[in-house]
Amino acid sequence: MLSKAIEKALNEQIVNELYSSNAYLSVASYMDSEGLKVLSAYFFRQSAEERGHALKLLHYMLDVGGNVLIDDVKAPMPTFKSVEHAVQESLNQEKTVTEQINRLMALAHKECDYATASFLKWFVDEQVEEISTTNELLLLVQKAGDNNLLLVEDRLLKQGVTLSRAQLPGGDD
Ligand SMILES: [Fe+2]
Ligand SMILES: [Fe+2]
Repeated sequence: MLSKAIEKALNEQIVNELYSSNAYLSVASYMDSEGLKVLSAYFFRQSAEERGHALKLLHYMLDVGGNVLIDDVKAPMPTFKSVEHAVQESLNQEKTVTEQINRLMALAHKECDYATASFLKWFVDEQVEEISTTNELLLLVQKAGDNNLLLVEDRLLKQGVTLSRAQLPGGDD
């Protein structure tokens, strides 16, 4: 059974993850408009992952008989000054989500809700990974500079980012 406070916090986190998903759609679209198809594909995948996080939370709530309430999702930043700016904003968003997850975990412990705390551990680990990979990408973009972003794209291709949209929701090729 979920307490009202945990239920409210989980519902809020679903909206936070949906916001992240939309923020990455904005970044992916910006990258595409800059002709950077690999970076665009990378962020479309990030967006799909964030939607996955929202669904993971939602299904957990359903599993434990929680009341799911999807609230408004605020609009993400519509465009960016540069590729570096877009990646920096992505890192900032991941840091914000890490704080949100930490607060949620602290609440679960405060309420002695160990099932929710155990469930949230996956998100704690995921945030470590997300901060690390986004930070790495930011360093790479900074090192390359505006004129060598194609080198960043080459590196991402070597790391296994694919241009195929086939595995993405809405993908058609
Ligand atoms: Fe997430
Ligand atoms: Fe994330």
